[in-house]
Amino acid sequence: MTSYSFPPEFVSDLRSRIDIVELVGDYVALTKAGVNYKGLCPFHGEKTPSFTVHQGKAIFHCFGCGEGGDAIGFLKKTENLSYPETLIRLANRAGVDISPYERRRGSVEAQAKARSEREQLEGAVACAQIFFARNLQNNLNGNVGNYLRKRGIDPLQAKTFGLGFAPDAWSALKDEMGRQGIDERVAVAAGLLVQKEGSNRRYDRFRDRLIFPIRDVGGTVIGFGGRSLGDGEPKYLNSPESPIFNKRRLLYDLHHARPAIAKAGSAFLVEGYMDALSLYLRGVDNVIATLGTALSEENVAAVKRYTSKVAIFFDNDRAGKAAAFRSLPLFMAVGIMPDIVLLPDAVKDPDQLAAGLDDQALQQALTRQTSLFDFFLQEKGAGLDGYNDRLQFLREVLEMILRLPDDPLRGMALRATAESLRLAEEIVLDEYRRIRQHRQQYPARGGDRFSAAPEGGSVKKLFSQSVSRTGSQPEEMILATFLTYPQLHDEFANDYLDLVENPDCCSLCRELAQCDGSGDAKALLQQLSSSREGETLCSLYARLVHLPAPAEDLEVARKVVCDCLLSLRKRQGHEQARNLDRELTQCRDEEQMFALLRQKMEIKKRLMAS
Ligand code: UTP
Ligand code: MN
Repeated sequence: MTSYSFPPEFVSDLRSRIDIVELVGDYVALTKAGVNYKGLCPFHGEKTPSFTVHQGKAIFHCFGCGEGGDAIGFLKKTENLSYPETLIRLANRAGVDISPYERRRGSVEAQAKARSEREQLEGAVACAQIFFARNLQNNLNGNVGNYLRKRGIDPLQAKTFGLGFAPDAWSALKDEMGRQGIDERVAVAAGLLVQKEGSNRRYDRFRDRLIFPIRDVGGTVIGFGGRSLGDGEPKYLNSPESPIFNKRRLLYDLHHARPAIAKAGSAFLVEGYMDALSLYLRGVDNVIATLGTALSEENVAAVKRYTSKVAIFFDNDRAGKAAAFRSLPLFMAVGIMPDIVLLPDAVKDPDQLAAGLDDQALQQALTRQTSLFDFFLQEKGAGLDGYNDRLQFLREVLEMILRLPDDPLRGMALRATAESLRLAEEIVLDEYRRIRQHRQQYPARGGDRFSAAPEGGSVKKLFSQSVSRTGSQPEEMILATFLTYPQLHDEFANDYLDLVENPDCCSLCRELAQCDGSGDAKALLQQLSSSREGETLCSLYARLVHLPAPAEDLEVARKVVCDCLLSLRKRQGHEQARNLDRELTQCRDEEQMFALLRQKMEIKKRLMAS
């Protein structure tokens, strides 16, 4: 993103160009009262207006909560923007050119190129958005209209939400792109058209689908999710990743929910576009959704910018619950203890809940929440009876608590843990301290699973020397698993040596074949240190011992090894394909070119099959 450096004169000039009453009026219904304007404060809940805007002085103030400031402060707070972001937004609003304040990084040409690529992609998507939306309004009597009615969305609501319809045709959008003078290659890059491999034929990606526009946080449409109208697969088809569309970073409808989240002081996180839409249509608008992907660290960071009070509201099935639990450590790492909305058994998701209740009952249902952490303890911990299982669970929970940045939260979580596992609090605390100390000595990398303390002092030293090296790669995961399960080494060593290029990993794998398989770490270290690459192998070994515990039993371990081998095989395939591409661009001989192409197709086929 372009960054700017704004001088003070710019800021004061900008301030004078903004009409604060007009700006605030976008968020708050204001009525004139003498020289002032009054309304309900957006920063705290109130029933009688104590929020005042003074046009002449260009300030606002709330007599209820004490919040106050100028136009910049208002927008910054309501929209949760950074200071420069706020200035950019206000400048756009006032029509002030900010390009003179651009901070130049890299060459001017490179910047211009990136900007124009982005602009072109966004332009193509914008054109598609208009096309889809128009199509929907023109087809309200057809299948898509029936579908909307079935789902309880009226045409006007569809319009305000920007819903669209992609017709059941291979080149409806493509033709429109042509009419609008948009380069088909740009439309392909934006994920709107699909280009058949090895040909110039291009066709519409979205066909016969209800279209949900996906916007970035600034409100620009950058991609789409398309719902099939019937049983067609996939149920939802999404725009592919592109320079402007990155699922890890995006949250559906965040742009629109931001002010509502600020106002409510909390956010609902749902799984589906429909869930978000249905709740919104019922007046619950502090709702955001993931894009059909697992919640990412970037998503959590984005949420945290607006609120720390999050209610997870996922589907009422095993998958939904599992996804909620997977999100827990991510939230805890940024100090958020989310709640979870509990749905009645018969209701499968938020969309269904919203459809089945009147407004009051819906509001009531939404308050049925409990702490996700407590719920996790209950669901996962309460049923455990074996000593080992309970110990392992305790450690898993303590790892999560360790991530919490706030002491009071940690204290509360530790207490809840002790209670739910029916353990004395001191015991839980002792174990917590032990793990924390261990973590300080051996910072976690790659995974979070608690791994047992090392045996020998020298290994410790070696390990701490190697922690700074890279995280765990499949080739290392496999070796680590071989260490614990020598029988898997016998089974897979040949595959491994065929695939792995790292010479240290190969040497260690070969050394393992020489050892007697008794699993005696000392004997192995001895053997390694007397080998030719002694020092390197010992430090590699030390690192492997400290990878997160590979797997609890042989079967799981075998699966881990197979998965890792598969990903190595894929990596190798991609690498070979890249090399072939390079050769192809230099190849001038037709015969040889066909041979190379055939090879490439073979690789592609294998990659597809794996
Ligand atoms: P769901 O399957 O729960 O969809 O997927 P839903 O929200 O209940 O949809 P309806 O009510 O049947 O229409 C939740 C989310 O997962 C992603 C989408 O983002 C969807 O909103 N998803 C689902 C896909 O990306 N592709 C799919 O094939 C299915
Ligand atoms: Mn659903």
